[in-house]
Amino acid sequence: MGSRIVGTGRATPRTLLSNNDMRRLVDTSDEWIRTRTGIGTRFLIRSDESLVEIAAEASCRALERAGLKASALDAIVVGTVSSDYAFPSFACQLQHRMGLDLIPAFDVSAACSGFIYAVSVADSAMRAAEYSRVLVVGADALSTMLDWADRRTSVLFGDGAGAIVMVSEPGPSGVLGSLLRSSGQYWNLLSVKATGVRCTVDAEQRRAPGDAIQMRGPELFRIAVRCMEEVTRSVVERAGLQLEDVSLVIPHQANLRIINAVAERLGLSPDKVFTNVERYGNTSAASVPIALDEALEQNRIHAGDVLLLNACGGGLTWGANLVRW
Ligand SMILES: CC(C)(COP(=O)(O)OP(=O)(O)OC[C@H]1O[C@@H](n2cnc3c(N)ncnc32)[C@H](O)[C@@H]1OP(=O)(O)O)[C@@H](O)C(=O)NCCC(=O)NCCS
Repeated sequence: MGSRIVGTGRATPRTLLSNNDMRRLVDTSDEWIRTRTGIGTRFLIRSDESLVEIAAEASCRALERAGLKASALDAIVVGTVSSDYAFPSFACQLQHRMGLDLIPAFDVSAACSGFIYAVSVADSAMRAAEYSRVLVVGADALSTMLDWADRRTSVLFGDGAGAIVMVSEPGPSGVLGSLLRSSGQYWNLLSVKATGVRCTVDAEQRRAPGDAIQMRGPELFRIAVRCMEEVTRSVVERAGLQLEDVSLVIPHQANLRIINAVAERLGLSPDKVFTNVERYGNTSAASVPIALDEALEQNRIHAGDVLLLNACGGGLTWGANLVRW
């Protein structure tokens, strides 16, 4: 028994900031941000908004597309590092917000790879026949962890949530395989201390620089390209397929230069790689499900297509899911 994705949804905060808007916050330029990252705009959460609420909106859309009621779900798995609480989990807050009770709800912490990890966890549990309808969410608001005076990091991130509904189903469609990897030796390439302070872009309170996102950008860039290439090749090979069999790659939208470098190493033509980093920036665990939802909306995915979802993030964590649509 495998698992199939039967509904997708996305939601974002209401405030969209362009690169020119960012110039009010840090010494930067549209030209620098676009050429180094491919980012043009990003949605940023404000102090009167709730990421749980935004994730619930994305989840309701995914359920609607799946033609299922929330009460049909029997588990919730959330890839996130942005819960307002150390506990309860983001997933428990989302469960309550959706009016659900008793079903297991838990977070998977793998930074930008959170959604890829969550899909793998959900698929494994479904293969073990424990669950048959699972809501899998990627939701993050890394903007609340930024030092707004640090131009090296503050221009990169955006906030949002994406959701999918997975159902267990026999047949050729569904998750063909996943591959997850971590390398703790690189833990300090990208990290944030847990401070319990939520510093939205409009908040008076600011994180002390040492408590904000710490990133060794150039080093991370090189390792991310290597990791994404390796995991993509390996997950395809393990499934007994060739890269040519992949119809569309939906990568984590961290940086257009990383995405292009990986595609080039893999020999993938640009039309086989979906990108929307220009509009959203790096939304961490939300980026892959948001991109999947947009790719569907743009008619880029058809029945029988083989999709490859991949990501790399703090931990270091990285991974891929291979899915037949
Ligand atoms: C962050 C990143 C875009 C920086 O690009 P880079 O070419 O490596 O740039 P550097 O950090 O070497 O900085 C080059 C110069 O640009 C400047 N700069 C950095 N951010 C800037 C900004 N927003 N606007 C203008 N100038 C900026 C730096 O101060 C530096 O100037 P200096 O040489 O006078 O000190 C790049 O390293 C990257 O994409 N890394 C991966 C980050 C990532 O995706 N993280 C998430 C993974 S999940």
